[in-house]
Amino acid sequence: MERSIRFTLNRRPVELATDDGRTLLWVLRTDLGLTGVKYGCGKNQCGACTILVDGRAVRSCTVPVKYVEGKTVLTIEGLAENGTLHPLQKAFIDKGAVQCGFCTPGMILKACSFLAGSENLGREAIIESMDGEICRCGSYNRILDAIQAAAALMKGGGAS
Ligand code: FES
Ligand code: FES
Repeated sequence: MERSIRFTLNRRPVELATDDGRTLLWVLRTDLGLTGVKYGCGKNQCGACTILVDGRAVRSCTVPVKYVEGKTVLTIEGLAENGTLHPLQKAFIDKGAVQCGFCTPGMILKACSFLAGSENLGREAIIESMDGEICRCGSYNRILDAIQAAAALMKGGGAS
């Protein structure tokens, strides 16, 4: 159904008229130009399209845009603040966890959601939380190293 949808996107209010059944992934990419949101499988299988909705990781290929009405959406484009990279972004660079980079936005936002909501930030817990996020370059060890380093930094223990 064509109607107006309002939500907060990367800290700014957004209103757009669209078919509210369209996939959030394609609205973000094609209507709003946020191509950091990647199309991988389109079937909830890879995590490339992961964004944050009200702070929780959501696979944007699986939900209609009407799902975010009145909610707060964060994509990779909005993660850095005032020109300062988020600790996860910095750690991914420092640890060489970005190869082709296709999975990186989804990986970082999934990790954001995990780090914000978990007390156990050990490697096993990180592996469990990131299960199902696919990296076609096979950079899993470096990705885990980066998430661990960011976790240490964010919890005040210093990056390792
Ligand atoms: S594109 Fe959404 S899970 Fe793969
Ligand atoms: S860095 Fe290439 S898919 Fe993960």
